[in-house]
Amino acid sequence: MRSSLNECQDASASSLLDWAGLADGGLAEAEACVDGALESLIVHRDGDAVRAWLNICPHAGRRLDWAPGEFLRTKDGLLVCAVHGATFELSEGLCVGGPCRGQSLSAVAVEVRDGVVRLSADALGTAALRTGG
Ligand code: FES
Repeated sequence: MRSSLNECQDASASSLLDWAGLADGGLAEAEACVDGALESLIVHRDGDAVRAWLNICPHAGRRLDWAPGEFLRTKDGLLVCAVHGATFELSEGLCVGGPCRGQSLSAVAVEVRDGVVRLSADALGTAALRTGG
């Protein structure tokens, strides 16, 4: 059961961030209504692909960023949870090291439309969608 503070009214507010502002290989944090709740998302650009996950670590349910939108990376590009150091690869969101090894971040379906990263119609479940055009 979610707190009423996390509930959001406008499920159609699906715009997350400008595609042009997200560097290739980069990570950003955005908030969006997912399943009727306001959630923090991790957004990752990989060439022409965009992926997003809930900003919730499968280990202890904490945010992964050390400050809003500030993510730690290893030298070889893995995402590091700032709380206890779990590491995640960024193609599937799989934890490859640390206390939740073998578990995955929860994927959120996103797409790029009209130069904006947006939630897809089916907001949960698909790890990555190719960008249009
Ligand atoms: S909450 Fe992320 S590693 Fe513990």
